[in-house]
Amino acid sequence: MEKGLFITFEGGEGAGKSTQCRRLKSALEEAGHDVVLTREPGGTAESEKIRDLLVQRDGGNWTPMAECLLFFAARQMHVEKLIKPSLAAGKIVICDRFTDSTIAYQGYGHGFDIPTIEQIARLSLGDFQPDLTFILDLPVAEGLARSLRQKEGAAGRENTEDRFEKLHMDFHEKLRAGFLDIARKAPSRCVIVDALQPVDDVYLMITQAVRESM
Ligand code: TMP
Repeated sequence: MEKGLFITFEGGEGAGKSTQCRRLKSALEEAGHDVVLTREPGGTAESEKIRDLLVQRDGGNWTPMAECLLFFAARQMHVEKLIKPSLAAGKIVICDRFTDSTIAYQGYGHGFDIPTIEQIARLSLGDFQPDLTFILDLPVAEGLARSLRQKEGAAGRENTEDRFEKLHMDFHEKLRAGFLDIARKAPSRCVIVDALQPVDDVYLMITQAVRESM
């Protein structure tokens, strides 16, 4: 592979993105590929600093526009410093969340104007897009229950990175509908994955879709 491949994972809370990202990375490495696993917000030292401002309790009470610009400031650094150079070196980049999360969370979820988000995306990233996006879909109640269980298992984390998960059920329903809408509008890039299936079945579906796209 000369050009690299940019794969993103999207979905609400508790859908199992991080687990699937790690398993896909191992599978691709075993098959001999060079793989970079990264996340948003974050992925570079500067972008991780912005992550702290956005997802930690007391990180700041941002206006919707400022919040959106911070997500894209982190993303622009991440794309220029890590993602594009890795792709240019022929690597596979797996990213836990990307622009679809801003459209789903800030747009569909919080009601920030979606055409404005798309305009900021074009200004900061041009037409740069993932090659393949997995949208892990789960009923809201199940996702939140799983997310809570994960937090109970990771003592201490719930005291910091919990800003977006404490939001109302209604918000998470909007989020889920938003991700499904994004997938419907970009069927050649997005694959909707039923995350209620056993984790091994989800993994098989993902690895098969990645193989087909190579
Ligand atoms: P994570 O839980 O996948 O690590 O993501 C951190 C939180 O940030 C999560 O609640 C979703 C939220 N988020 C947004 O609201 N907008 C974005 O653009 C991104 C990338 C994440």
